[in-house]
Amino acid sequence: CWRMSRIRANIWAACSRIRRRSSRAKPGRYVPVATRDAAWNRGAYLAEGISHCGACHTPRGALGAERKDKAYAGAAIDNWIAPPLDKTNPAPIAWNQAELVAYLGTGVSLYHGTAAGPMAAVPRGLAHLPGSDVAAIATYFTSFNGSAARAGQDAALIQKALATDRVGTGLQYDAGTRLFTAACASCHYNGGKGLNPLRPDLALNSTVHLDDPTNLIRVILYGIDAKDGAPGVVMPAFGTGFTNADVARIAAYLRATRTTKAAWPDLEQKVATIRAT
Ligand code: HEC
Ligand code: HEC
Repeated sequence: CWRMSRIRANIWAACSRIRRRSSRAKPGRYVPVATRDAAWNRGAYLAEGISHCGACHTPRGALGAERKDKAYAGAAIDNWIAPPLDKTNPAPIAWNQAELVAYLGTGVSLYHGTAAGPMAAVPRGLAHLPGSDVAAIATYFTSFNGSAARAGQDAALIQKALATDRVGTGLQYDAGTRLFTAACASCHYNGGKGLNPLRPDLALNSTVHLDDPTNLIRVILYGIDAKDGAPGVVMPAFGTGFTNADVARIAAYLRATRTTKAAWPDLEQKVATIRAT
């Protein structure tokens, strides 16, 4: 009992400290950074003060506050993964200014797919702002996400992605390949003609590169309806037709053929858990 009351007292003291600090800091009042230009400051103000991108993309500490030392390092939110928006973002092609402007402004980008799940509402909200504001948010994120250092690599990465898409077309005897070819390739195969942003190239999509397969599994099970992502197009839901083993097999196949990362463990169990939530 004594230990419990001490712990409670400590938590209470920590909470009051945070409350006092945040009332002094006046949350929501943005203090411009003098060394940055107007567009960067506008972007930081919109991202942090208004849209609050960190509410989903920044991991939280034990008391539920966003961890300042891990700003935009990615976090789990509402049974989805909000990917990292800093240098640790796993997408092969960097999130440069043009990709961020397209994704945030319209919900669909050429190289990174579409905004699904809890992210789908964000481009719909940003659509009410002038284009210069969306550009300012992109300016803010590209100032720390390492995209400038990766400029010039896109052409080679696209060729690599198109080549991995062709792998499998001759491997019809493998169960994962067969399932993917039958269920997914009709829409997601990007032959030699380049990329179609309305049918995201999966080798370039963060869902297959993240450490956690949740987003990929959710998209396969529940699809993306016409109002989310790219307006008017639909990614069908496979949850009713596919068993947990089918979904796990496709996820494992994409991980193995589209990335060089370690296989996801316990995939079938993960699919079952996601269905149950
Ligand atoms: C309500 C939670 C939420 C908020 C608020 C939010 N995001 Fe997201 N974001 C997500 C989720 C979940 C995903 C994954 C969506 C998917 O896989 O399609 C995502 C995906 C993204 C991606 C794609 C990352 C990748 O590698 O595929 C970018 C870029 C992004 N968000 C930027 C932002 C910015 C900038 C803001 C603020 C203007 C913001 N987000 C606000 C939840 C959120
Ligand atoms: C009828 C065409 C069609 C089929 C079949 C299809 N997809 Fe899609 N897929 C789409 C479209 C269109 C989008 C973009 C959706 C949007 O923006 O609303 C998409 C998006 C995606 C995304 C990107 C999600 C994101 O957050 O960027 C993934 C991953 C995906 N599909 C995986 C699959 C897998 C795996 C299969 C097979 C089980 C499959 N798709 C079958 C049309 C299809």
